[in-house]
Order: sequence, then structure tokens, then C-alpha cells
Amino acid sequence: MVSEIVKAHPHIKGVNFDLLFVVAEAPDYVGVTHVAGDMFKSIPQADALLLKWIMHSWNDEDCIKILKNCREALSDKKKGKLIIIDTILSPEGNDLFDDAGVRFDLLMMTQINTKERSEAQFKILLKEGGFPSFKIIKIPALVSIIEAYPQ
Ligand SMILES: C[S@@+](CC[C@H](N)C(=O)[O-])C[C@H]1O[C@@H](n2cnc3c(N)ncnc32)[C@H](O)[C@@H]1O
Repeated sequence: MVSEIVKAHPHIKGVNFDLLFVVAEAPDYVGVTHVAGDMFKSIPQADALLLKWIMHSWNDEDCIKILKNCREALSDKKKGKLIIIDTILSPEGNDLFDDAGVRFDLLMMTQINTKERSEAQFKILLKEGGFPSFKIIKIPALVSIIEAYPQ
């Protein structure tokens, strides 16, 4: 995904950040640097950060730790942004992908004791993690895009 972003916007320097044993096996992509680390310790400085399929793997307490480290990693707190790509459960459950979202919620709960979240739940986490404002971009997919701002 980072490679596709960099291909479309070559002025962006892409960094793929993951655990050492993952990065050690990562194939090369033009314009993408692989950096090893632990997001619970610190995240490399960046203008923008992208977390795809991350939040739903962690409980609220861990998500807040990750968000606080993301905030720290944003070099410019005025212009920086955090982009989260994850399922957002809708309370009404009328959207095209809502059934799939509920199935994923059950999957996460039964397999690793975590969950998918609603907008209201994301709002609480984001505020607690240092991102008081955000907007949601709905796309025709199971996931939605959250753009969160540190101010
Ligand atoms: C569900 S996968 C999502 C991967 C990718 N973003 C995607 O959408 O395909 C979660 C990723 O988080 C990485 N991860 C888990 N714990 C981590 C940590 N403490 N620090 C950095 N990355 C971690 C895993 O190695 C894995 O690649």
C-alpha cells in the first residue's frame, strides 16, 4: 500500500514500519524504506501516519498507547495527520458492509479478545490518545478512512 501511494505521489518518502522479524523479510519497493521497531515504544517521525488494520487488533488501553506514540511521531502538530483505515460499525447496521463488519467484530472477539468499533468508540479513543478532531471518509468497502488531527 505504501508503495502504491509513493507511485501515485512520488514526492512522498514512504516508510513501512513494522516489527523486526517482519521487516527482515519485506521485499524491496521503489521509494519505500523499511524501518523496524515497536509502535508501543516509539514510532519514526513523519508528516503523516497511516494505520491500516491495526486498531482492531488491540484493546482500548493499547490503542490509546499507540495513538499517543503516533501523536509524538507527527513532526508538525499543526499540519500533521493520522490516517486510520479500519472497519467502523454503524449502530443502525443498514449499510452494505455492516453484516461483514459484525462478523469481523465476532472474529476479533473470539480469536484475540479485541473488537471492531463504532464512530463513537473511535471518538473516545482518539480524544484520549491526543487526536481531538477527526473526519470520517466513507468508501464503498468494509473499511472506512478516519483522518485524525492532533489539534
Ligand atoms: C493486521 S496486520 C496489518 C498489516 C498491514 N497494515 C495491512 O493492512 O496489511 C498488523 C501488523 O502490525 C504489526 N505489528 C504488531 N505489533 C507491532 C508493534 N508492536 N510494532 C509495530 N508493528 C507491529 C504486525 O507485524 C502486522 O504486520
